Amino acid sequence: MVYLLCVLAAALAVSNAQVFGGLGCPTVTTQKNFNLTRYLGTWYEVYKFKANFENNEKCIQANYQLKPDGHIRVNNTGVSITDSTPSTAIGDIYIPDMTDGSKLKVKFASAAPYGNYWVLSTDYENYTLIYSCTSILGISHFEFGWILARQRTLPDATINKLFAITQGFKIDTSHFMKTDQSNC
Ligand SMILES: *[C@@H]1O[C@H](CO)[C@@H](O)[C@H](O)[C@H]1NC(C)=O
Ligand SMILES: *[C@@H]1O[C@H](CO)[C@@H](O)[C@H](O)[C@H]1NC(C)=O
Ligand SMILES: *[C@@H]1O[C@H](CO)[C@@H](O)[C@H](O)[C@H]1NC(C)=O
Repeated sequence: MVYLLCVLAAALAVSNAQVFGGLGCPTVTTQKNFNLTRYLGTWYEVYKFKANFENNEKCIQANYQLKPDGHIRVNNTGVSITDSTPSTAIGDIYIPDMTDGSKLKVKFASAAPYGNYWVLSTDYENYTLIYSCTSILGISHFEFGWILARQRTLPDATINKLFAITQGFKIDTSHFMKTDQSNC
């Protein structure tokens, strides 16, 4: 039970958009020769997994900056769709194993455990496809996915390519919901 609570806390630490599923996590491969330096800077959220409740934010972006201790400071910002209130969340990202640099860890609240942030595919200059899955005792799992881009939109061909990569790992792309980046 304690384990389950930790797992759930980790899910909430990562995102409010996790999706629950049956069985364990799918086997995925992540970006080869990941270069963190090239990954830093600003990314706009183009798609993310649906939340269980109404998605209420638009113009979501993330800014990644290297800290002196080698961790990354992430500044996530968005704007409320209903009343235009801006929101900011500051998080911490790090790479636990430098030989597997595309498997990052992230958390937003200082008391929360870290959750997975795996870069499945990025070209650094246009898109990144991020996936996180945590197995719950091998009988269930929760997962989330993000597609971020250097601009507020991506060409359909790029989206199709990233959806195909996701489907190739047997991850259900119907969870992806487009993020409103209009009138930002
Ligand atoms: C990572 O990218 C930076 C910036 O382009 C480059 O200077 C550096 O050599 C790259 N690192 C590796 C290990 O390729
Ligand atoms: C986060 O980013 C936003 C948008 O760039 C900026 O206005 C805000 O000052 C940043 N917040 C922090 C705490 O760095
Ligand atoms: C990013 O997209 C542009 C426009 O399609 C393309 O010219 C460029 O080569 C892409 N960058 C990388 C690193 O693939």
